[in-house]
Amino acid sequence: MKSLVSLNSLKMALLLCFSLTAISQSNSQDQDKQLDVTEDLFKCLTEMTRSSTGAFFVDNMLGDIDATLAVANSETGGEYPAGSVISLVPSEVMIKHDAGWNEATNDWEFFELTVSAAGSEIAVRGTTEVVNQFGGNCFGCHMLATPEWDLICGTGHGCAPLPIDRETIANIQNSDPRCMKED
Ligand code: HEC
Repeated sequence: MKSLVSLNSLKMALLLCFSLTAISQSNSQDQDKQLDVTEDLFKCLTEMTRSSTGAFFVDNMLGDIDATLAVANSETGGEYPAGSVISLVPSEVMIKHDAGWNEATNDWEFFELTVSAAGSEIAVRGTTEVVNQFGGNCFGCHMLATPEWDLICGTGHGCAPLPIDRETIANIQNSDPRCMKED
């Protein structure tokens, strides 16, 4: 009896190790597939391109804005190309690394920025662990988007709602401090 119990706990321990390894593998980042994201690439929202629904702003750090816009403006969704930069409000940005960078987030990295007239500073960046200013986990909400939307929430894609309404979002978008820089 005693040996049966210990055999069972051994099995449990092995199973636990196995699942933890599986989780850490699917959420590991392949450095060779990581784009070099520096703070100066984050632009004031009016220097980005508004998606056709008007809900969010896009750019492509590799220069292929047409490929990013094609997905952003599609009514049926699609997979965003590497280099895609998507922003809802100045402080919240998603960037797509090269294919294979991170399986769990389909190669998206989440950024929480601190913005001012001086520019953008990266406060937090990462994959499944990044939390926004309201204490919400980016990935936790965005992963609920149905697969054809590639973790982009928009409206009606299945994500958990934000605690702020569209009017508040529009007000925050229109008062990006980085756009008020004099130069
Ligand atoms: C409570 C759920 C929730 C959390 C937490 C959350 N988001 Fe979102 N996010 C949404 C929803 C819903 C939208 C769509 C809002 C709209 O267009 O009205 C959205 C929109 C966006 C967009 C515009 C593209 C899109 O998906 O529609 C970006 C970029 C974005 N969020 C990034 C982030 C980042 C980065 C974080 C964490 C720092 C984060 N979000 C945290 C729910 C969330």
